[in-house]
Amino acid sequence: MKIWLDGGLRDIESARVSVLDHGLTVGDGIFETVKAVDGEPFALTRHLNRLSRSARGLGLPDPDHDEVRRACAAVLEANPMPLGRLRITYTGGHGPLGSDRGDHGPTLVVAIGETTRRPDSTAVVTVPWTRNERGALTGLKTTSYAENVVALARAHQHGASEALFGNTVGQLCEGTGSNVFVVLDGEIHTPPLVSGCLAGITRELAIEWTGAKETDLPLDVLQRAEEVFLTSTLRDVQAVHRVDDRELPGTAGPVTAKAMRVFDERSGHDLDP
Ligand SMILES: Cc1ncc(COP(=O)(O)O)c(C=O)c1O
Repeated sequence: MKIWLDGGLRDIESARVSVLDHGLTVGDGIFETVKAVDGEPFALTRHLNRLSRSARGLGLPDPDHDEVRRACAAVLEANPMPLGRLRITYTGGHGPLGSDRGDHGPTLVVAIGETTRRPDSTAVVTVPWTRNERGALTGLKTTSYAENVVALARAHQHGASEALFGNTVGQLCEGTGSNVFVVLDGEIHTPPLVSGCLAGITRELAIEWTGAKETDLPLDVLQRAEEVFLTSTLRDVQAVHRVDDRELPGTAGPVTAKAMRVFDERSGHDLDP
C-alpha cells in the first residue's frame, strides 16, 4: 500500500509523521473522506472546497488544491481497487505539547482503504450526548472526532451502524458520519446547517437532486417520520429500517427508494457534480 505524505508517495510501512504532530497530540487537523470508484474520485471539487473551509475555520494555511489533487491521483493510481475510501488528512503539523500551534507548517497525508458497497438499509440509535451547534468547530470536518468514536461504539453495541445526535436545544442534528433525512406527509426534510450538522457533500447533492427541504426538526420526529434515511460519502443514500426500538415498514419506503434511484443515476452520470 502506498500513501502520500508531505510531497510524495511512500510505502505505508515506512511513512512517518512526528509523534509531536499537533493532529496527534491535540486533534488539531481536518480531513475529507472521498469515495473512489474504479480509481475515480467522486465529487472531488466539492470535497476540496470543504477542506479549504475547514482549514480556514481552524486557522490552518489554505491547502494547495493542485497538490492535493496530485496526491489523490497518485494514491489512486498506485492502489487500484473497485471501491476505495480515499482519506485526506491535513494537520497543524509538528508542534508544542500544548494547544498553541507550532510554525513547522502543516502535514498532508492522503491514504486509501478498500471498502465494499453498504447495505441498502440499516439500523440507527439515538444517543443522549449532544452536538454543539455553537462551538468553535461546528460545521468543520476536524480530526477531533472522539465523540463520534464513542457514539458509534454505542450504536454497534445496539446492533446499529450509526448513532444520531440532537443538538443542545433538542433539535435533530446528524449522525457520527452522516446526515439524516426524514419523510413527513410524503415530503423530504433534513435539518438546516444551523442545527450544527456538517455540510455533507451527499446531503448537498441529495437536496439538489430530490428537492428536500431544510427544516428545524425536533429529535423525536424520528418516532413519527414515515421514512428515515441517511446520506454520506460511503453510504450514498441509505434507508433506515430501525430507529432505537421503532421498526420502520419495509426496507426502503417509496420516497427513500426514489431518492436512492435518483442519487445513483445522477452520481453515475457526473463524477464531479
Ligand atoms: C459528522 C459528519 N456528518 C455528516 C457527514 C456526511 O458528509 P459527506 O456526505 O460529505 O460524507 C460526515 C462525513 O462523513 C460527518 O463526518
